[in-house]
Amino acid sequence: MNTDSVLYEGKAKQLFPTDDPQVLRVVYKDSATAFNGEKKAELGGKGTLNNQISKLFFQLLTEHGVEHHFIKTISDYEQLVKKVSIIPLEVVVRNIAAGSLVKRVGLPEGTQLSHPVVEFYYKNDDLGDPLMNHDHIAMLELATPDQVGHMRQISLQVNDILQLYLEQKGLMLVDFKLEFGVDLSGRLLLADEISPDTCRFWDNTTGKKLDKDRFRQDLGNVLEAYQEIYQRLGGASHA
Ligand code: TMP
Ligand code: ASP
Repeated sequence: MNTDSVLYEGKAKQLFPTDDPQVLRVVYKDSATAFNGEKKAELGGKGTLNNQISKLFFQLLTEHGVEHHFIKTISDYEQLVKKVSIIPLEVVVRNIAAGSLVKRVGLPEGTQLSHPVVEFYYKNDDLGDPLMNHDHIAMLELATPDQVGHMRQISLQVNDILQLYLEQKGLMLVDFKLEFGVDLSGRLLLADEISPDTCRFWDNTTGKKLDKDRFRQDLGNVLEAYQEIYQRLGGASHA
């Protein structure tokens, strides 16, 4: 097995095989993209921060019994994960109106939602990751109704866990995106990453955006925001 040949390359990560067929090595890249790759930049240090932040979130979820693919970090920018077959859906949970919800339904940014809103998007760059309803998912056989139900349930559980934890760190969890996969024994596992690339975090008092919206909206100090998140989660301070 050539463990140096990339199995899959996404916008922010690369996946490599390891000598264990059930385990993959993830390399977090410094590349930042937005708007389906139209906007691009290299942000030195982003990969390391997301690797460490994801690890902290996955460890928190372990404490709460949520099953996921993360095994351990093996360097500043690499981690080992269980091999899963990714379900081609992005599950978004929203607590406060922002981003595409504002554009779709016209609520002002910052509106508190009375209940968390769960959405499914088809992971398909050519189509621009369209919003899917349950019938679309069944029509395209992207996941079984049972899997869709479990993904919704786990995503809401993750929302409760993260929201409570982040509240204690002075952060609002505005929304976030999860991905799921099925392991070799058919178990549904939370996969991918949980980081400022895939979540919106706002400071509780100032409302300051501390996530990838700083890049998407050209707000500046992107890395400083990621560093701030890492430190608030208890990570070590480094440049
Ligand atoms: P949206 O408001 O642009 O739909 O994004 C909702 C959440 O999902 C937000 O926290 C950012 C995250 N997200 C991703 O992780 N990847 C993506 O490709 C998109 C569009 C959003
Ligand atoms: N990750 C997506 C992209 O590059 C979109 C985003 O996060 O806004 O294009």
